[in-house]
Amino acid sequence: MMSNSNNFNRRKFLKSSAMVGALLGVGNVNALSPDAIQQTVANISTPRKSQNKSVIGLKVAPIEQVRVAFIGVGNRGTGHVKLVEALGKKAKIIAISDIRDKYAQNSIDYLKSKGVKKVAKYSATKDSWKEMLQRDDIDLVIISTPWENHVEMSVYAMQQGKHVALEVPAAFTVEDCWKLVDTAEATQRNCMMLENVCYGDEELAILQMVDQGIFGTLTHGEAAYIHDLKELMFSKTGYYNQWRLRHHIKYDGNLYPTHGLGPVAQYMGIARGDRFGHLVSMSSLEANLTEYAKTVEKDNEFYQQDKFAHGDMNSTLIQTAKGRSILLQHDVATYRPYSRINAIAGTKGYHEGYPSRLSFAGKGHGWLTAEEHQEYFTKYKHPIWDSLKDEIAKNGGHGGMDFVMMYRLVDCLNKGLPLDMDVYDGADWSVITPLSQISIQMGNTPVKFPDFTRGRWQEERKLGIMQTL
Ligand SMILES: NC(=O)c1ccc[n+]([C@@H]2O[C@H](COP(=O)([O-])OP(=O)(O)OC[C@H]3O[C@@H](n4cnc5c(N)ncnc54)[C@H](O)[C@@H]3O)[C@@H](O)[C@H]2O)c1
Repeated sequence: MMSNSNNFNRRKFLKSSAMVGALLGVGNVNALSPDAIQQTVANISTPRKSQNKSVIGLKVAPIEQVRVAFIGVGNRGTGHVKLVEALGKKAKIIAISDIRDKYAQNSIDYLKSKGVKKVAKYSATKDSWKEMLQRDDIDLVIISTPWENHVEMSVYAMQQGKHVALEVPAAFTVEDCWKLVDTAEATQRNCMMLENVCYGDEELAILQMVDQGIFGTLTHGEAAYIHDLKELMFSKTGYYNQWRLRHHIKYDGNLYPTHGLGPVAQYMGIARGDRFGHLVSMSSLEANLTEYAKTVEKDNEFYQQDKFAHGDMNSTLIQTAKGRSILLQHDVATYRPYSRINAIAGTKGYHEGYPSRLSFAGKGHGWLTAEEHQEYFTKYKHPIWDSLKDEIAKNGGHGGMDFVMMYRLVDCLNKGLPLDMDVYDGADWSVITPLSQISIQMGNTPVKFPDFTRGRWQEERKLGIMQTL
């Protein structure tokens, strides 16, 4: 017979197990024994074979004018419509789908005001996007819907022969990350996660410095998404159906890992010579959302809600195959000012963001002066930020990084070049969400990463944006 404390531990374990099953995407794990569950977690990193060709370096025939459709034109998708329109003849907008007719119509009206006519609208039902994707005059679909829709929409789009650009994070279960990889390989379509921060002026300059050995051998990075979103998440009009807050009720862990992590992964050559090996994750006490919930309108669905699963601050430590470490944080609840940290340490130098500062061997123990800092960032400025400077100034988007990203995506398709980021990058960076949650559920245990590249991470490859412009 089990003691009371054993009973408690078993109940706790089974509760965790149900959550772990959901994160793995393996259905009802309550039916499994604790040993089987532990085995299932261990299986996350078991290599998987594919019958299909890898999409690393995928090249498709040049598309002179990329025909684009959009699913989801809320906060983010509306901006993407504007950016694609600003690309002129490089792209043509064919259709827009949003479950909220008013939002689809707003974007269509915007396009009309710019002289873009005959844009089809799909907004009748929650599945109208499927009808849109059955058209044969669409090359690229840009998906900016809530997280729970990303995978179904991306998979269906690729199966209809479309290239996909989807918003961050790409997926939030392990199986869904694999679904994206498997479908991209089966259909030989591009599936790029729109990690705009990888196109930032500061991030691309640091990438150039890393590439030229300025920091020496990289050993450690720090990245984050720290952004007080309480007001927006609770607002009845901030996000469609307050979708983002619902994730905080259900899941602990790093819900939004890719903005800070993407650039650091690129500095370290993740999937291009190194890979994420394992992580451990821990969350703090949850208190900010519960206290904030007391202050919202009484008719707000989340008024006085006090069952938030997500701790205020999630800290995850990742170790790479080469032994580098990364501290990754997620906090959208406290009053800590915005930061992605953007820190990278090597044997010759160190950079830390917010605000951007540099320190180099042989230059004393402090930060470089403002003038010295400027010299580095002028010398290593990525050429795309010079060549597009007028368009960046006109179209902006998070200081210009959004425009550079959209330009590069469409330009690579115009020229038949591999895209800068592929489905493996999206899966590697997004899988942090379920792995961090599993680590927490299992008592902060180490969890190994799946290898979505199926061994090809060992090939040293340069990023597209570092080779072709
Ligand atoms: N990269 C960035 O800087 C950045 C910034 C903001 C948001 N995002 C990402 O963009 C995505 C969308 O976020 P948001 O802030 O725009 O949210 P939002 O709620 O403002 O927009 C989502 C849109 O999807 C629509 N939608 C929902 N279900 C649909 C369906 N079945 N068919 C068609 N349309 C549907 C909604 O009506 C809404 O207009 C998320 O993945 C988010 O993480 C990224």
